[in-house]
Amino acid sequence: MDPRSEVLLRQAELFTGPLLLAGLAADDLLGLLPEAHGWSWHAGEHATLEVRFPGRSHFGVSPPSVEFACAVLFLPKSRELTDYLLSALAAPLAGRNLFLVGEKRAGIERAAKQLAAFGNARKLDSARHCQLWQVRVEHAPATPNLENLAQRYSLPLSDGRLAVVSLPGVFSHGRLDIGSALLLQHLDKLPAGHLLDFGCGAGVLGAALKRRYPESRVTLLDVDAFAVASSRLTLAANGLHADVISGDGIDAAPTGLSAILSNPPFHQGVHTHYQATENLLRQAAQHLEHQGQLRLVANSFLKYPAVIERHLGPCHTVAEANGFRIYQASKH
Ligand SMILES: C[S@@+](CC[C@H](N)C(=O)[O-])C[C@H]1O[C@@H](n2cnc3c(N)ncnc32)[C@H](O)[C@@H]1O
Repeated sequence: MDPRSEVLLRQAELFTGPLLLAGLAADDLLGLLPEAHGWSWHAGEHATLEVRFPGRSHFGVSPPSVEFACAVLFLPKSRELTDYLLSALAAPLAGRNLFLVGEKRAGIERAAKQLAAFGNARKLDSARHCQLWQVRVEHAPATPNLENLAQRYSLPLSDGRLAVVSLPGVFSHGRLDIGSALLLQHLDKLPAGHLLDFGCGAGVLGAALKRRYPESRVTLLDVDAFAVASSRLTLAANGLHADVISGDGIDAAPTGLSAILSNPPFHQGVHTHYQATENLLRQAAQHLEHQGQLRLVANSFLKYPAVIERHLGPCHTVAEANGFRIYQASKH
């Protein structure tokens, strides 16, 4: 059981009625709170919950249309996302309770200050390195418009400016990551066919690919609903069309790809998490066609080449700058 869920269960009498658990862990909590529904924006956690509690897990960027008399937000990593989620949850809860639970090292104490906008917040419990806060919503905000919270910027690429739209919580919100910038300079000579941007975030790479290779089919994939929504907005802002998929890991990707491009994930929440990237490197070959190519950018200190060579083929460093490298390998 996730420690944040354990803290909620210490006050289980507060959570007996119709309740929305937003950003919940993929654990047993829904089983122990039979009137609760879950709202996830992580495709993998949602899929796990949906199998165990059919019809009670909801995926997306806005609260599901189920009745709830109070809500709990499991503190996410980004402050902007916390702002959006708290407002989205508080909007229909005038006179009702909104709770916030999170780990101390994730910044729960600081985040709890964001509850003051809705009423008098108080700390209910502190245990398992987590805190539980509660506010009775006296000042219900208007339902937030997510698109209004997007950050928009444009990049001067060699084939013209590319508009980027990033939503709260999306990787490198409002600015281009240095690693992605390096990969954008090395999108040349990709084999024609079906291209995948794995872990697409705001869709910078995928949109650049579609514009550069208009004849190729392009798929963008991310585990995070806000990233998927951002990617759709970025494509639309540039008048581009591509497939955008929400899914957890390379298993969710199509097969028969001519190339996989990625600035792969290396953090998840406050925990460092290489699993999705390791799976990508191990299983890329199963998703690539003959002579299909894997091209990725990574911090120079990450030991990816050995894994790539073990599972795909000879790995070449095609560029290096600012502590990042571009690796390339083909399936033979
Ligand atoms: C380093 S960011 C790169 C984002 C974007 N491509 C860019 O260059 O700005 C990695 C992305 O991988 C996504 N990600 C993390 N775990 C994933 C998983 N299991 N499956 C698919 N995408 C994942 C994250 O949500 C994040 O958007």
